[in-house]
Amino acid sequence: MKTDEIRKKYISFFEKKGHSVFPSDSLVPKDDPTLLFTGAGMNQFKDMFLGKGTLDAKKATTCQKCIRTGDIENVGRTPMHHTFFEMLGNFSFGDYFKTEAIEMAWEFMLYEMKLPKERLSVSVFLDDEESYEIWQNRIGIPEERIYRFGEKENFWPASAPSEGPNGPCGPCSEIFYDRGDGVGCGRKECAPDCDCERFVEVWNLVFTQFDRREGGALSPLPNKNVDTGMGLERMASVIQGVSTNFEIDIFKPIIQNISEITEVKYDSQAEKGKLMNRIADHVRAVIFCISDGVLPGNEGRGYVQRRLLRRAVRDGLKLGKEECFLYKLVPAIADVMFEQYPEIKQRRENIARIIKNEEERFHETLFMGNKRLDELMEDLRDSGEKNLSGQDAFQLYDTFGFPFEMTKSILEENNLSVDEDGFEKKMQMQRERAKVSSQMTGSIFDEGPLSTLKETTKESIFLGYEQSEVEGRVIGLIINEQLVDSAKAGQNVHVVLDQTPFYAEAGGQIGDTGVIRTKSANVEITDTKKSNDIIVHIGKVVEGCIRQDENVSSVVDTERRGAIKRNHSATHMLHSILRRVLGQHAEQSGSFVSPERLRFDFHHFEGVKKDEIARIEELMNERVMENATVTTDQMALDQARKAGATALFGEKYGTNVRVVSIGDYSQELCGGIHVKNTGEIGIFKIISETSIAAGIRRIEAATGHEAIAWTRRKEQMLDSLCGLLDTQENMVVQRAEDLIRQLKELRKDVQKAKKDGMQKKSSDFISKAKDISGVKVVAEVVKGADADDLRKTVDSLKKSLGSVAIILGAVGNGRVTLIVSLSSDLVKKGLHAGNIAGDIAKIVGGGGGGRPDMAQAGGQLPDKIYEAIDLGLKILQKEIDYDS
Ligand code: SER
Repeated sequence: MKTDEIRKKYISFFEKKGHSVFPSDSLVPKDDPTLLFTGAGMNQFKDMFLGKGTLDAKKATTCQKCIRTGDIENVGRTPMHHTFFEMLGNFSFGDYFKTEAIEMAWEFMLYEMKLPKERLSVSVFLDDEESYEIWQNRIGIPEERIYRFGEKENFWPASAPSEGPNGPCGPCSEIFYDRGDGVGCGRKECAPDCDCERFVEVWNLVFTQFDRREGGALSPLPNKNVDTGMGLERMASVIQGVSTNFEIDIFKPIIQNISEITEVKYDSQAEKGKLMNRIADHVRAVIFCISDGVLPGNEGRGYVQRRLLRRAVRDGLKLGKEECFLYKLVPAIADVMFEQYPEIKQRRENIARIIKNEEERFHETLFMGNKRLDELMEDLRDSGEKNLSGQDAFQLYDTFGFPFEMTKSILEENNLSVDEDGFEKKMQMQRERAKVSSQMTGSIFDEGPLSTLKETTKESIFLGYEQSEVEGRVIGLIINEQLVDSAKAGQNVHVVLDQTPFYAEAGGQIGDTGVIRTKSANVEITDTKKSNDIIVHIGKVVEGCIRQDENVSSVVDTERRGAIKRNHSATHMLHSILRRVLGQHAEQSGSFVSPERLRFDFHHFEGVKKDEIARIEELMNERVMENATVTTDQMALDQARKAGATALFGEKYGTNVRVVSIGDYSQELCGGIHVKNTGEIGIFKIISETSIAAGIRRIEAATGHEAIAWTRRKEQMLDSLCGLLDTQENMVVQRAEDLIRQLKELRKDVQKAKKDGMQKKSSDFISKAKDISGVKVVAEVVKGADADDLRKTVDSLKKSLGSVAIILGAVGNGRVTLIVSLSSDLVKKGLHAGNIAGDIAKIVGGGGGGRPDMAQAGGQLPDKIYEAIDLGLKILQKEIDYDS
């Protein structure tokens, strides 16, 4: 049975049992900035378990994309570990409980997967008699194949009672497939909790019935729930009878591809085979991250992704592949994942280019790091040391991105070593710093006043699509993260209403501003945000006192909202036009819509050319003038997809979506606010086009009043320019060109005059040169010269006068420059220009020195320049006389 078939069978089995099918959540959890990646099927349903969810379903089933990095060291080495994997799940929110969950799981295993029951063992939590009894009596599993384990194995999250996290949790029961005593440790007493590979844990049935509170108390949840998770790849390996997940049908072509590219034969047990496993896993994870909108970077999710990719590059190097190749695996991975994730194939070119860029960067990094390491090894040898300091190894890692493992092995090859403890200490310090600066706590569950509010309120209703003024009621006031009864003038407050016209920031559209009024109070709202379906108005009480449960009237700043609407609709239009002008790859990777500007980030691998910009603007304004109608419809996600509506990279959509259509050229899934007709946009103007990351460009543009204001500013600039250049608008360019030409000519003339002047001076100096015991001596102050002029004069003097000693000085910007130069015969006699320069510089309050034949010095006392030159002359006289 193919993996695709297992996935399909699972979903349709539970659909037949009355479960609603939900799409996978994005790998980037929606509304949960604390969580790095979605790691389990239950994440998207956590509110349902807490009894605060708004989904219209009591039973659900999903195939969830997951990333877990906790076991990363095992990935590739063991048969079953992954970073990215798919988790099949069925969920009950207060509907069925243990009996049905266990019965359905058993039915699925025996009759859908057709697994022999004697190969299956199960485990239950220590004192979960109920589950034990169901397995033993209802299902009929013999006692010797029912195991009881503690909270580490049979509670979810693992060890939650004693260690947390707080939130929904419960005992679990796991189902294992026994691959037979010929596999694994071979011990007679081997059991599912053994680390060996005999028992494969394929399904975890969690009975989510508790809410863990601070301190470890387990209080019962309003409902008894079920959350199950089956690892799809594991199940496939069991069904397909292969010994590792990397040999199942959806991994085989990837591994084969790696083997062809690297020209290394695959053997799943060999060291190189394990590297190939890891490459396959990591590249698959990276592809899914990119597809869900995460780009490689230095923080959070982007950093995890970068590390995965870098590790795969290093594994590739160990397989002898020195050039970029990971990006070449994209088509094979897109093909095997096509059935469930057609979007990967659609976007394979963009994804491959992002990976290639990142690979290239890392190769560059490795090159620089290698160079630096060579220098460090040279230093070690010079100083007779053998051990590289932890600090240097850390710098290589931190600044150059050079992997520690590589530093170590290169040093070893050169009979050197590294202070591993020192390195680890530095790493620890960095981890501590990162912990402090990162908000990603890794906890799955929100805490705080909004959570409390959520227990009594399901959601605040948004009425802003149709209205900009709404009567409502205060259902929550928060000051400094605490729920309060009232807020008075001067206080910053977060207000939650039962219904509101204020749009909370989402989908790139900035939050609304405006005012909330009660009988006595005025609250100025400066921003609106959303957290788990609760709309939070952020503002300050400017007058009176606002109280819990009071009636309010809330009014949006419609002028600002109008500007936002224009920019938002223009963003959709721009998306469709960019793809038309630049190509289908020019997909949105991010956007931000404020009243002043729209910012649109998209995939494109070079700068947008001037003529393309002009074409984009032209098409945009044509479409504005067409005055097409903008409509919105609610529909099922599938229907929207079939109709060809654009869904964005990495966005997560519910089963019911809102589709915004503009004319016949744009259909996007979007919850934002739009104009009614494109004509309202007025005018569209691109303000800038820049690069923001490898392969991602950004266009900033303005519409309506802002676009007009921008054009006016340009006009004013032109006006001032005309004023400055004293000419008319139509002549301004020519006038500027003329001026530039004149300036160039003048500059040339000045340079020539200067050169002529210098030449004249040189010949004056030659005729005035003193003769000291047969040596020509020039000691002069050159007016108006700089250091460069002095050097040039010295050169020409030296050419004309064979045996010569020269001292020249000049003053510029309040500083003295002195140059001393001696012909080589004088140097041979022991005279030293550097020493002379040093001595005379003291007179002008400075210092200097240099080579025996040529030296420069400086000082801050221009008045003393003649005195300095005189001293130089005296020194020369003495030394030449002494010598002869
Ligand atoms: N949440 C449980 C797990 O991740 C079951 O889905 O194992």
